[in-house]
Amino acid sequence: MNNFKFQNKTAIQFGKDVIDNALHDAVAQFGQNVLFVYGGGSIKKSGLYDRVMSKLAGLTVVELSDIAPNPKIASVRAGQDLVKAHDIDVILAVGGGSVIDAAKVIASSKFYDADPWDLVLDSGKRYQLDQLPVVDILTLSATGTEMNVGSVISNPETHQKLGTGGPQSPAVSFLDPTLTYTVSKWQTAAGAIDIFSHLTEQYFDRSANDVTSGMMAGLYRAVIKNAPIALADPDNYDARAALMWASTMSLNGLVNVGNINGWTVHPIEHELSAYYDITHGVGLGILTPRWMQYSLSAETLPRFAQFGREVWDLTGTDEVVAQGAIQATFDWIKALDVPTTLPGVGIVDKTHFEVMAESAVKVGRLAQAAYVPMQAADVVAILSAA
Ligand code: NZQ
Ligand code: ZN
Repeated sequence: MNNFKFQNKTAIQFGKDVIDNALHDAVAQFGQNVLFVYGGGSIKKSGLYDRVMSKLAGLTVVELSDIAPNPKIASVRAGQDLVKAHDIDVILAVGGGSVIDAAKVIASSKFYDADPWDLVLDSGKRYQLDQLPVVDILTLSATGTEMNVGSVISNPETHQKLGTGGPQSPAVSFLDPTLTYTVSKWQTAAGAIDIFSHLTEQYFDRSANDVTSGMMAGLYRAVIKNAPIALADPDNYDARAALMWASTMSLNGLVNVGNINGWTVHPIEHELSAYYDITHGVGLGILTPRWMQYSLSAETLPRFAQFGREVWDLTGTDEVVAQGAIQATFDWIKALDVPTTLPGVGIVDKTHFEVMAESAVKVGRLAQAAYVPMQAADVVAILSAA
C-alpha cells in the first residue's frame, strides 16, 4: 500500500425529496447570485426545473442550459462569460456528469481571465486559482463527479477529450434516487457500466490492498445486481438508490487510497468519445472485456482469479476462474442491452486508431502507470479486437 492522503469535503444529502427542505439554504449560504446550469431539457420534462426554481425564490438566478453529453468547451466559455458578467457567487448544477463536470470548470473560470481551455490542458493552473462553490442535484448515477474534483471536457475542434482536476469537489451534492427514475435504459446501462469500469480501473492496480479490494468487491456486487433490476423496473427505489450510492462511493477517492492509480480503459474510451462522440459508459463496456482479455497473463492471473472469486463467486483453478470472470463481465454488459462492439456504435473505419492510440498512451501515461503497461500498438490491438 502506497502512502496516501485522504480528504473529501463534499456534504451529501441522500434520499427521497431531500431537495425540498435543504436546497434553498445549501445554495443561499454562498451568496445571492446563482448560476443555474443544466442540460438539454430532461429536467424540464420531469418537472425538476420548476421544483428547483421554486426553491430558489428570493435569489438572483442566471441560467446556462444545453450542456451536452461529453460537455464541450464552448459551454464552459459561455459559463465563464456569465459568472463574470453577473458576479456569480455559487453554481447550482442539475443533471448528470456532463452538467456537473462543466459546472466545476466554469467555477474555476471566474478567476481566470483567458480561455478556460487553458485550464483543461493544464489542471495545475486551476489549483492556483480560487473556485466558486458548486452545489449539485445529481440526476444520473454513473460518474462519481458528485463527490470528486474531476471533470472531463471535450474540444471538438482539436478532437480532444481531457480530464481536469481542481481544488474543490462539490460543496453539497443532493442525491435523490427518485430523480433517476426517468433515466433511459441506454443511459441507465451506460451509467452502471461506468461505475463498473471505475471499480475495474482501481481494482486492477499494482499497489491494490486488501482493505480497498474488499470495499470494491462489495460495490461491484451492488452494481452487478442492481443494474438489471433498474432496467426492468425503472421506479425501483432500492435499485436506483444502490446504483446512486455506488456511483458516488466508487469514485470519491476512497477506494483508490494507496493505489498507483494508472487507469487504462478510460483514456482509451476518451479517445473514442473525442473522435466519435459516443456515450462514455457504452464505450467502456465495449473496451473493458477486450482490455481484460489482452491483460490476462501469467503475471496478472492471480488478480483476475481473485476478481472472479470475490466479485463473481466463481470456483475452480485460477485459469478457469480468471477466464470465467472475463466472460461473466462480457455477459453482464451484453445483458444490459447495449452494443458490445465498435461497429455496434457505428465505428467501422480504423483510420484514426493509430493516432487515438498514441494520444491515449500519452494522456493516460499507459506506458508508465498502467496496471499492464501499454504502447500504442497494444491499444491498437485492443481497438481492433473490439
Ligand atoms: O441533458 P439532459 O437533457 O439532462 O439529458 C441527459 C443526457 O442526454 C440525460 N439525463 C440525465 N439525467 C436524466 C436524463 N434523462 C432523463 N432523466 C434523467 N434523470 O442523460 C444523458 C447523458 O447525460 P450525461 O450527463 O452526459 O451522462 P453521465 O452522467 O454518464 O456523464 C458522462 C460524462 O461524464 C464524464 C464522461 O466522460 C462524460 O463526459 N466522466 C466524468 C467523470 C468525473 N467527473 O469524475 C468520470 C467519468 O469516468 C467520466 O469520464
Ligand atoms: Zn467513467
